[in-house]
Amino acid sequence: MSAVGPLPELSFDETFLRAPQQTLRPLLDAGVRAARIREMGTTLLLGWADVHAALLDRELGAMGAAYYAKQGWTRGPYIDWVNRTVVFLDPPDHDRLRGLLGRAFTPRQVARVRPITERIAGELADAAAARGEVDLYDAFAQRLPLQVICEVIGIPGVDAARMGAWTAALSLATAYPDPAARAGADAAMCELSDYARALIRERRRAPGDDLLSALIGVEEAGDRLSSDELVAMIAQMLYAGHETTRNLIGNGLFSLLRHPGELARLRAEPAGIDAAVEEMLRYEPPIIFVSRVVRGARELGGVPLRDGDVIHLSIASANRDPARFSEPDRFDPRRADAGHLSFGFGGHFCLGASVARMEGRVAFETLLRRFRRIEWCGAEPSWAGDTALRTLERFPVRLVAA
Ligand code: HEM
Repeated sequence: MSAVGPLPELSFDETFLRAPQQTLRPLLDAGVRAARIREMGTTLLLGWADVHAALLDRELGAMGAAYYAKQGWTRGPYIDWVNRTVVFLDPPDHDRLRGLLGRAFTPRQVARVRPITERIAGELADAAAARGEVDLYDAFAQRLPLQVICEVIGIPGVDAARMGAWTAALSLATAYPDPAARAGADAAMCELSDYARALIRERRRAPGDDLLSALIGVEEAGDRLSSDELVAMIAQMLYAGHETTRNLIGNGLFSLLRHPGELARLRAEPAGIDAAVEEMLRYEPPIIFVSRVVRGARELGGVPLRDGDVIHLSIASANRDPARFSEPDRFDPRRADAGHLSFGFGGHFCLGASVARMEGRVAFETLLRRFRRIEWCGAEPSWAGDTALRTLERFPVRLVAA
């Protein structure tokens, strides 16, 4: 069905980013399949079926730097990184880099990382228990995946805080960054690249039992990975590896605290944690939308599009589409109709999904076992309005040890 008349208009502004589901749900209910993003003249697909089909559509190009070009941001260290990063690339470059990175995410590797994750989660829980009142992100949700991904890559633990500051600056470039956010992302990329180059030199001299050494090995054996590609991979892994998983843990706990009956049930039946993690991902997806470039004139979501147009695929509304999920606005950790799109789908399906799921499981097993009571302090936390990641601004909680 073609869209009739002009599309509803939206902005990737604070109002939208703070409440994407609430903004888009009335449109879905009214049978609207797509909206126009005012500031870029781009199209946002809303429903599960359209988003799913677009994620599977090999005729659509990866986002590349086109998303930023629509905003007039065409140069600089951050844009250079985008142009070299697996998730933003098309075949053949994409397939080659994905194939290499895929070696890090075999079931054996995930099994290797699990005890590391359990140890780190236990240490963080001990430290948080000693303080009683903490910011959950700072004390746990952010630190756990950050320290895990540092261990996986081979970045010394003492440098984790610096990595976190750099990737936080990168995440502020994901929606519609203002000049300060662009400058912050450029500066972070420069510093992170210098750090990564030094680490690569060190691992070339003395390889370790880590992902970076393995990737360097591949490069040395043939002509495969350039230093620039290695740097881009380190940045991508650091960024993708924890900014998102932080939101799975933080948003997931937030959903549980807002539904105390479900929290109590999960405590009583911890075997339900796997299903609960899936529902956390559906209900408050860590990434609000992803983007693609249209190749050749065609129609998507009922909207006629031209070659080179940028489209966005709204994971947030797809996951709450009443045409796909029963009672989509109900947080139901025992939901039978799974099928969220929070890890994407198709050619760019998240390479770290099994690691992220394992980290989510370990995080909630640890939190529920170690703390008899978890409650937020003060007013209900509010959602951030300056990033395409779904994340809380702050999450102060009071923890009472079991
Ligand atoms: C809950 C946590 C996570 C979520 C919600 C998430 C979400 C996503 C999504 C939506 C995509 C596809 C983007 C697109 O289609 O444009 C993606 C790709 C990717 N993710 Fe994740 N991710 C998570 C955790 C991780 C972790 C832990 C890692 C690495 C350790 C990781 C590494 C990657 C990589 C390398 C890609 C690019 C795959 C490709 O382009 O072929 N992610 N992720």
